[in-house]
Amino acid sequence: MQTKAADSQKVSQGQGKVPVHVAIIMDGNGRWAQKRGLPRLDGHRVGVDCIQRILKTLSAKGVEYVTLYAFSTENWNRPAEEVAGILEILQQALRGQTEALHKNNVRIVHIGKQDRISPQLQDEVAYAEGLTRNNTGITLNVAFDYGGRDEILEAVRKIIRDGVPEDQVDEALFRKYLFTGHSPDPDLIIRTGGEMRISNFLLWQSAYSEYFHTPTLWPDLDSEELEQVLEAYSNRQRRFGRVDPEE
Ligand code: IPE
Ligand code: IPE
Ligand code: MG
Repeated sequence: MQTKAADSQKVSQGQGKVPVHVAIIMDGNGRWAQKRGLPRLDGHRVGVDCIQRILKTLSAKGVEYVTLYAFSTENWNRPAEEVAGILEILQQALRGQTEALHKNNVRIVHIGKQDRISPQLQDEVAYAEGLTRNNTGITLNVAFDYGGRDEILEAVRKIIRDGVPEDQVDEALFRKYLFTGHSPDPDLIIRTGGEMRISNFLLWQSAYSEYFHTPTLWPDLDSEELEQVLEAYSNRQRRFGRVDPEE
């Protein structure tokens, strides 16, 4: 069996079996609740509780970066009550889970806009990021008020503000200006809930990500199915535009 370090080395060469970075579009909370005759917010609550289990599985497999899409820039267009409820649940989750994640050496990073969320949620983010900043285990990027287009525009604005000369704007520089500048591109993007679209998630970073979707609603995704997805990933051939060398 390979060590975690050996795996990540292989992946960085584009031939890896274990993804270094897994990103998940956690969709289907509302339908999960509605199927049970419950309010949609109950689905969001259960959905957030599932995160620890998924993290445990990914971390045991040697995954080093996990990005979770929790609330998009477009999700503000939902009914005000649902928006307020989701953001409140995220705030409670950060408060309730940060210490345990810290004990497990997880580094927590928020990706997305900070200026539209409540001051209380901003405080929770600052606390979680500050406490876990130097942790060396898995990096957990929590994406809320996140949109890929917004992120790209924000990067462009920062580059202009920094007065970067035009001939220095290349892919390596640009990626550092994204919210995910501290993470490699996702190797694997999983979407639960049956839809087959990207919904404004990691637009720049997903250029060569392997994509999996499952009809399973997010609260129903269990470790067994997740392991099956990882197994399927390990059988994918990634070519990055090249022709495969003959075996
Ligand atoms: C995903 O679940 C979580 C958020 C978008 C906040 P949904 O709320 O989109 O659930 P469905 O797709 O309506 O079932
Ligand atoms: C994507 O789910 C966003 C998150 C999971 C946070 P949506 O439910 O918002 O996506 P659409 O509207 O079906 O594309
Ligand atoms: Mg949805």
